[in-house]
Amino acid sequence: MTRTIIKDAVKRTDFGAEINVKGWVRTRRGNKNVSFIALNDGSTINNIQVVVDLTKFSEEELKTITTGASLSVNGILAESMGQGQSVEIQATAIEIYGAADPEKYPLQKKGHTLEYLREIAHLRPRTNTFGAVFRIRHNMAMAIHTFFHERGFFYFNTPIITSSDCEGAGQMFQVTTQNLYDLKKDENGVIDYANDFFGSQTALTVSGQLEGELGAMALGAIYTFGPTFRAENSNTPRHLAEFWMIEPEVAFIEIAENMQLAQDFVQYCVNWALKNCKDDIDFLAKMYDNELIDRLKFVVENDFVRLTYTEGIKILKNYIAQGKKFEFSVDWGTDLQSEHERFLVEEHFKKPVILTDYPKEIKSFYMKQNDDGKTVRAMDVLFPKIGEIIGGSQREESLEKLTRRAQEMNVPEKDIWWYMDTRRFGTAPHSGFGLGFERLMLFVTGMQNIRDVIPFPRAPKSANF
Ligand code: 4AD
Ligand code: MG
Repeated sequence: MTRTIIKDAVKRTDFGAEINVKGWVRTRRGNKNVSFIALNDGSTINNIQVVVDLTKFSEEELKTITTGASLSVNGILAESMGQGQSVEIQATAIEIYGAADPEKYPLQKKGHTLEYLREIAHLRPRTNTFGAVFRIRHNMAMAIHTFFHERGFFYFNTPIITSSDCEGAGQMFQVTTQNLYDLKKDENGVIDYANDFFGSQTALTVSGQLEGELGAMALGAIYTFGPTFRAENSNTPRHLAEFWMIEPEVAFIEIAENMQLAQDFVQYCVNWALKNCKDDIDFLAKMYDNELIDRLKFVVENDFVRLTYTEGIKILKNYIAQGKKFEFSVDWGTDLQSEHERFLVEEHFKKPVILTDYPKEIKSFYMKQNDDGKTVRAMDVLFPKIGEIIGGSQREESLEKLTRRAQEMNVPEKDIWWYMDTRRFGTAPHSGFGLGFERLMLFVTGMQNIRDVIPFPRAPKSANF
């Protein structure tokens, strides 16, 4: 008999029909006469109830049907009298594919802590919580591709292994095939990369932006969507060493249109989640965060505030003058801390905020310089609970200004000569941004820790599975 996935099975109304489902046992309970198996196959948060008449099956046959076991069930689809489900299956034959020893299977009781589940990340997708999170993650990826495809953007694949440091932060994981026990160095103690695999020093990319700009300056509008890597030693609930980033890059648009694109994009994704992930979001809201759905609707329905960095500093300083205390000081010229960003978003405006025109010293070399000589056309999108969800900018299109800024910031010409060619040949205004996929996931799921929205998180001292 062909299998029906449980997502479809729970919607069927052809009661009396024969049906086959396969899945993993969530629970089994019952009495002397009847056993109830809650079966889940990952297609939905909902289980299907399998009713086993013990006059037709022996206890012996059912002995290994315990939490975590994998089954194929043939039976008759029936209307359920029980609460919380509309259909059930009256079993006629059960095949046990694999048992899960109750003495050893770690996912016995409900209510394991998220910290514990992180230690068994190889099994946690089988829990309701992580099933919901990873189904939403898939949906967000579909939303992202659909959004850009519908608007004529091309999916442009930028390299994972690179020899340039886009963000200039020096937080890169090196890639080498050299024997680390026997590193070849010259007389000055400098490592000789000529014999390395690529013949030069290489690392995992921190961002696909520089190559993305090459794409935009040819195809008009592109986006990247891939893994990026940062060896920053940030042990926080919002940082990963390996995270996924979406980076649209568009020729002929300036910062204002870039901001609108960012807002439309995030709203589209959140709306997609509300429309297509209702069961999973309802579950997460019920379990972890009863304000989740209101927060999602709020973001879809409201424009984001647009504000310059300088104005933001003014607002924060005003609060400090009135007695408000922050852990970190607020000074024009230094980066805002997440407590400051969240204060602006959560307490002052009570809306997402797009902060623009940051001091050039705290931003990357490629950002367009304003006429004031002090600020650049950067934009950060700040979200409730998350802080920075997007970072982007209008790009400097003038070869002369860009060259000067790269020198000032010690970005070697030999590493970016190809990037500079976009300014040398047919340069044009262009803009783009990067959305941290897991930051979006944090927002949409209401989860608190970024390690709980990616299947196998990589963080300092942690690369298991
Ligand atoms: O602000 P960032 O560093 O910007 C860039 O990389 C630009 N090249 C993007 C562009 O203009 N094309 O990173 C962009 C976003 C952040 O706003 C944040 O959401 C996410 O990437 N992000 C991280 N997410 C998880 N863990 C980390 N360690 C992250 N670092 C940045
Ligand atoms: Mg940033």
